[in-house]
Amino acid sequence: MAKSHVSTTVNGDPVEFLCDAPETMLDVLRNTMGLTGTKEGCGTGDCGACSIIVDGRLVCGCLMLAVEATGKQITTIEGIGAPDRLHPVQQAFLEDAALQCGFCTPGFIVAAKALLDRNPDPTETEIRYWLAGNLCRCTGYDKIVRAVQHAAAEMKGQPA
Ligand code: FES
Ligand code: FES
Repeated sequence: MAKSHVSTTVNGDPVEFLCDAPETMLDVLRNTMGLTGTKEGCGTGDCGACSIIVDGRLVCGCLMLAVEATGKQITTIEGIGAPDRLHPVQQAFLEDAALQCGFCTPGFIVAAKALLDRNPDPTETEIRYWLAGNLCRCTGYDKIVRAVQHAAAEMKGQPA
């Protein structure tokens, strides 16, 4: 079967790739582009490890066909912060010890950024509902929720 040619934007950079019809965006990010920060936990839309932002919306990369990326603006964990300039959500996860093995962490950080981009002042309940699609088998959720609250306060210029 002929491959499809896709033009898209990933982390602000124009990107083109070839993919087979059944390939997911998660497959292409990890296997074609080498952006392995986006994780595959379940592959069925249940764990949130593959969270990416597509045109401002939080999406499971494992549920999006790669051909659907045409003309879209995609943000992955690699596009959030930098090693010497962490995003406030990343900094808060570090300071609040909101991770253990770290496998779920990129998904949580992408999801939390998507939340704070649209709602800079979420309640604890809103944070918990928003992150309900992200599973962590290690940490428990309290530290993660605290880290998102901490990041929200930092982004508003308030002491946490
Ligand atoms: S790998 Fe996509 S939701 Fe689990
Ligand atoms: S820190 Fe291990 S799965 Fe969340």
